[in-house]
Amino acid sequence: MYEMGRGQTMTTLFTDIQQFTTWRNEIPKHDTVGFVPTMGALHGGHISLMQRARSECDHVVVSIYVNALQFNSLNDFSKYPRTESVDFELCAQVGVDSVLVPLQSDMFISDSPNLLSPSKEAEAFEGTDRPGHFSGVVTVVDRLFAVVQPTAAYFGLKDYQQVAVIRNMATTLHPRIDIRPCDTMRETDGLAMSSRNRFLTETARASAGLIPLALSTAIAHWRNGCRDASEVTAIARSIFDRDASIELQYLSIVKDGTMDQVEAVSERDSIIAAVVIDGIRLIDNMQFSNA
Ligand code: PAF
Repeated sequence: MYEMGRGQTMTTLFTDIQQFTTWRNEIPKHDTVGFVPTMGALHGGHISLMQRARSECDHVVVSIYVNALQFNSLNDFSKYPRTESVDFELCAQVGVDSVLVPLQSDMFISDSPNLLSPSKEAEAFEGTDRPGHFSGVVTVVDRLFAVVQPTAAYFGLKDYQQVAVIRNMATTLHPRIDIRPCDTMRETDGLAMSSRNRFLTETARASAGLIPLALSTAIAHWRNGCRDASEVTAIARSIFDRDASIELQYLSIVKDGTMDQVEAVSERDSIIAAVVIDGIRLIDNMQFSNA
């Protein structure tokens, strides 16, 4: 256990789930607890989740756990950036009350724990391109929810499909936890903030700027009156086609909050995309709105 003080708030680091549980049990029953689960490598997107939790809840908990169960290759898992001391400092700056960094042996008794089956929302898109990914995500989030027992949990909408899958898992297994999706934070050229952006070379980073351009051009086309999903996606595709280094994995329009593809686009539906640029896989989405 380690503590760091900032103004009124003391941020405590727990690596032991038992000690965390003792701390958690001391929180008065009617206080609200906001929870931001992360894998570390914190960026502006995570900070906005923590700030929202801070402004809405009496207590804020952040977890940092690089979850081996959700990676498709050992190589990806070992390459994932680990920046724990900087992460802890950022949590302290935002006024987070406790940071939980559990050991794998404390999270799961076995090296290959029983995996939960995600809902049907997990089947397509990321589910096809990354088999087993969502099973790993819901297994770890379920375990973290049981430990942290939050009132509300905050997730970034950049991972649109993850939000849909976790929402379904929580409805079944943790109905008292309020899942609060939060807007995607973007760089000045519109690129969605992601822990993977740091792996982009200068050239790949320039190409990545076409992702938000493609999605926002599709939204503009819809605002101009086009409702046909294949026409709207074709406009976005034509922008990706400008750059041969972009390999498009999927591009689709789905019904608000679900993974159901639509033929006619309505307000609140979302356009979702995954691309690979120079070996780095990036995802993004935008919602159709007239605002
Ligand atoms: O979005 C993430 O960082 C992870 O998928 C999550 C929700 C922390 C589960 O490991």
